[in-house]
Amino acid sequence: MTFKTIIEPFRIHSVEPMKMTTPQHRGKAIREAGYNLFSLHSDDVLIDLLTDSGTGAMSRDQWAGVQRGDESYAGSPSYYRFLESVQELFPFKHVIPTHQGRAAEKILFTAIAKPGKTIPNNTHFDTTRANVEATGAEAVDLPCKEGRDPSALDPFKGNMDVAALDALLSDRAGQVPVVFVTITNNSGGGQPVSLANLKEVREVCTRHGVALFLDACRFAENAWFIREREPGQHGRTVRDIVREIGSLADGMTMSAKKDGLANIGGWLAMNDDDLAGRCRNLLILTEGFPTYGGLAGRDLEAIAQGLREVVQHDYLRYRIRSTAYLGDALTRLGIPIVRPTGGHAVYIDARALLPHIPPLRYPGQALAVALYEAGGVRGCEIGTVMFGLHPDGTEHPAALDLVRLAIPRRTYTQSHIDYVIEVCAEVKRRSGQLPGYRIVEQAPTLRHFTARFEPLTA
Ligand code: F0G
Repeated sequence: MTFKTIIEPFRIHSVEPMKMTTPQHRGKAIREAGYNLFSLHSDDVLIDLLTDSGTGAMSRDQWAGVQRGDESYAGSPSYYRFLESVQELFPFKHVIPTHQGRAAEKILFTAIAKPGKTIPNNTHFDTTRANVEATGAEAVDLPCKEGRDPSALDPFKGNMDVAALDALLSDRAGQVPVVFVTITNNSGGGQPVSLANLKEVREVCTRHGVALFLDACRFAENAWFIREREPGQHGRTVRDIVREIGSLADGMTMSAKKDGLANIGGWLAMNDDDLAGRCRNLLILTEGFPTYGGLAGRDLEAIAQGLREVVQHDYLRYRIRSTAYLGDALTRLGIPIVRPTGGHAVYIDARALLPHIPPLRYPGQALAVALYEAGGVRGCEIGTVMFGLHPDGTEHPAALDLVRLAIPRRTYTQSHIDYVIEVCAEVKRRSGQLPGYRIVEQAPTLRHFTARFEPLTA
């Protein structure tokens, strides 16, 4: 007999109180924050779904690792435990710890990119794109066509368009230092990439003599989707699938704040000795000595243990089912979301939910503010506020106006999520009355972090 209730496969060991707030309190807080959810004090937030990055709960054994952390400047045993844990999953020859994912990106692209170069990816995450562009190189997104349609129910919408990659590598022969595949595709809705697609990408890269790197932040979630959805994969362990994914690549960047189950950390790994040497030299300039990167020994221990826990099937079954639980409930309520539900987050299609608010009046912002005001739930606008302002100062609607509800790992219980569902239902009921917004103050780049808004009255 299997029961249908998905239970959290852990008991609670230490608790963090949450501050209960009233609608009046939240109305004042968000007004003072200029209607920007990044500007709130987080203790005014009840359920914080801004990101799944670094916000998860660590296990008893990770905290034990923190106690064991050895802070030697060079050659710490904590580094060797970290190294062993990474290489058990990703047997790359060189593993370079960094303080988080974007530091790995910065070092790698500084070493290999410059004006005239092109870096393709299924879809660049925003820091990845920014780090490519900071070198003067061009970042090109090549998602498969199903990945561009929020309602297409394809199992692997994170896949790369292999034909487009082949054409680009022919066109720009000698100008592409690396091909990147992001697993899961965060900017594309947390959608997975299939093993079959990765093998095709590998074949194209080999044929053109170009290296393949993974942006592997959510590798375990991606491997679980492969096990669940890809023909012939169900009998395998996630560990085994992850090793195969790693064996197809020449290197990786990683944010341990996601599937490292840690609050900070990351790494850069590769097989190429010469490239590793250049990256280590850059690492020493800004991050630290190669056996700690930008981390304390205790952080390396937390990651080493997190990597052992994140590939456990009971954990991943709960993780992926509990995200789908939220997505399924919103779908039943008639709230449009990117489907199928991704691994780490549910993405609400705010433009479809609020058709009376034009994109340049920021439907995603309107929805994110309404979820906060109604129930203290903080999501993140991923739409025209984030992507609409261009370097030449012009403003255009983004491809989609979404609100991402990202689920921190092992942090909220099912009753917290039931509450989020109720808040979403209430906001949907009032959706026709939600106002659009205008921006009254903004920075020239990455404006979403600091812009101030005003609601438009009818
Ligand atoms: N790559 C992907 C796919 C990511 O999702 C992130 C971070 C990074 C790289 C950068 O890693 O934050 O450790 O420097 N994503 C977070 C998010 C911030 O909310 O999606 P980092």
